[in-house]
Amino acid sequence: MKTFTSAADLQLALREDKNNHKSIGYVATMGFLHEGHATLLEKARKENDIVVLSIFVNPMQFGPNEDFETYPRDLERDENVAANGGVDYLFYPTVHEMYGEEPSVKVVVQSRTDVLCGRQRPGHFDGVATVLTKFFNIILPDRAYFGKKDAQQVAVIDGLIKDFNFPIQLVAVDTVREEDGLAKSSRNVNLSDQERMEAKELYQSLLKAKEAVESGERNAATVTALISEHIAAQTSGVIDYIEVYQYPELKPLESLAGNIIIAMAVKFKHARLIDNITLYIE
Ligand code: PAJ
Repeated sequence: MKTFTSAADLQLALREDKNNHKSIGYVATMGFLHEGHATLLEKARKENDIVVLSIFVNPMQFGPNEDFETYPRDLERDENVAANGGVDYLFYPTVHEMYGEEPSVKVVVQSRTDVLCGRQRPGHFDGVATVLTKFFNIILPDRAYFGKKDAQQVAVIDGLIKDFNFPIQLVAVDTVREEDGLAKSSRNVNLSDQERMEAKELYQSLLKAKEAVESGERNAATVTALISEHIAAQTSGVIDYIEVYQYPELKPLESLAGNIIIAMAVKFKHARLIDNITLYIE
């Protein structure tokens, strides 16, 4: 595995691979790698000749009162995970390498952002779309791998790739969970022991909602109420949102039908957790 901090050096290496007709798989992360990230790498490893992993805690996607400064970082451990995961090129740029003194252009996401995390985090998806536009242009991958845990992010990236004509295949990968169902996340380390025990209830509440839908419940408000009651009774977390939409359009639904997403965000003291399930209803 080679580690690069310079975009130009990485491009030089990749140019040679492309000249040799090698396919390039790309996994974008903010580091503090866990099994969710490792699963994306595994899939990329199977499907491509060259695997590129970026680790970059992107300041542009964090709001002023969010956890950019305290976002967990551990490059040494990440390098081990990356090497074991079969990464060929690890790209680990500084903020200056990515943005210079002051960026003059940014990407603005026009749709699918006024709901879920987008509503709670204004500008967040502009930051994600901007940094990914840069990474896509630097790396020019054939395939890019993203986790369904961040389902709204997948929907936004789908729009970015189509609207900006990136010749990239988007591969969406199922959410990887802890044994008790908690979705793996770099932010889970910020939970207290008590909160960590409670955090499994996010997925439990989604399963309860799924069960209700499978038994015939079609009212979106009833489904979200079921979840919020469960979270209030079983955790000390504060609900940020619980919402049900068509997926991937993220349009509201009163009566549940077709492809839907049930998604939630809950704030604990030092960690905001998100989770979702997607269902198809005949
Ligand atoms: P990060 O939170 O580090 O996640 C990197 C990728 O790993 C994302 O595609 C995310 O959906 C996926 N992932 C995280 N937890 C997962 C889990 N439990 N199961 C499956 N996949 C999981 O998402 C970002 O970084 C950033 O917004 C980024 C895309 C890198 C842009 O800065």
